[in-house]
Amino acid sequence: MLGNLKPQAADKILSLMADFKADTRQGKIDLGVGVYKDPNGLTPVMRAVKAAEQRIWENQATKAYTSLAGDPEYRDAMQQMVLGDTASGRVASVATVGGTGAIRQALELVRLANPDTVIHVSDPTWPNHLSILNFMGQAHEMYPYFDNDTRGVAFEAMLDALGRAKKGDVVLLHGCCHNPTGANPTAAQWDEIAGVLEKTGAIPLIDLAYQGFGDGIEADAQPTRMIAERLPEVLIAASCSKNFGIYRERTGILMALSDSDKTRDLAQGAMAYLNRQNYSFPPDHGARIVSTILTDAELKADWQQEVEEIRQTLLSLREQLAQELRDLTGTDRFDFIARHRGMFSRLGATPEQVAAMRQMAGIYMVGDSRLNIAGLNRDSVPVLARAIVEAGV
Ligand code: LMR
Repeated sequence: MLGNLKPQAADKILSLMADFKADTRQGKIDLGVGVYKDPNGLTPVMRAVKAAEQRIWENQATKAYTSLAGDPEYRDAMQQMVLGDTASGRVASVATVGGTGAIRQALELVRLANPDTVIHVSDPTWPNHLSILNFMGQAHEMYPYFDNDTRGVAFEAMLDALGRAKKGDVVLLHGCCHNPTGANPTAAQWDEIAGVLEKTGAIPLIDLAYQGFGDGIEADAQPTRMIAERLPEVLIAASCSKNFGIYRERTGILMALSDSDKTRDLAQGAMAYLNRQNYSFPPDHGARIVSTILTDAELKADWQQEVEEIRQTLLSLREQLAQELRDLTGTDRFDFIARHRGMFSRLGATPEQVAAMRQMAGIYMVGDSRLNIAGLNRDSVPVLARAIVEAGV
């Protein structure tokens, strides 16, 4: 039986990790997978996470199952972090296996409600969105998102395409820090997006994987909160991998907002059912770390400060890279790097130019020229800037 299996195409992001590891050159630079690295190239355990783990170790009296939906304290704390007070009483939620698990469960929920639903995804989007949709055989369409000339959002084309979505279709939006481009709608543009969703009756599915890495923890949640206030039904898939640095703990949440108690309860039941079918009880350790931090004023303040330090590091690397490129080219055509937000920027280089940078300077970025800004430090920025120019980007 197993001999009937077909080889699977390698994941573009994960295979890059292996290629980087196999490269023996000194001074190689990893701008691939979306993991935060400090200036020494390490992905540290955050201070508040260490402290929370110690408290859990000291105080946890049992590891018996929680509930199919996960620990209520975690779900409440996450609801507060993502939505503030905007949607109280309207939210059904389940803890999931990371943000990817939340996306998968969201799509399972949509399929359970109506298997013919069309999902609209940005062009480009995180490759795993498409991989999951293809694996599930779920109908989907791409809407224009990135303007390769300005390296900003192709807003008119995006709005136009979203205006053609049908009632009941699902529109997958990146709530902040768009992956892979780093280009994001302005607040005014988010308003217009909400207006189009209201008009068409399409349902937003918001992927929120980088809250805190763009303009701040609260600011990054604003588009999601505004949409939650205006739309009757909203799905939100949030991840704690990056902003709590607990990647391997696989900590995420799916929230489903509705406009009646009856629908909310139906959604809650369906989501717990889906957890049971796919993996039964969701993992708890990461969720407990998160709720320990978010419900303790001191730990929360320390965590907020560390997220802000990370955000500032990303911003200053962006500024430095844009400045280096300004100096080298005598133009401002790479200033978009400083305007982008989050971990990533799409450079707009061709696959050949990406390959040339890898060959010449050991610089590893995803083939679509997505670079992880957090893979840089003050010393490697000039190396990257020179490679970008030498590759003719
Ligand atoms: C990324 O986009 O690099 C991250 O979300 C990690 C992953 O699983 O792809």
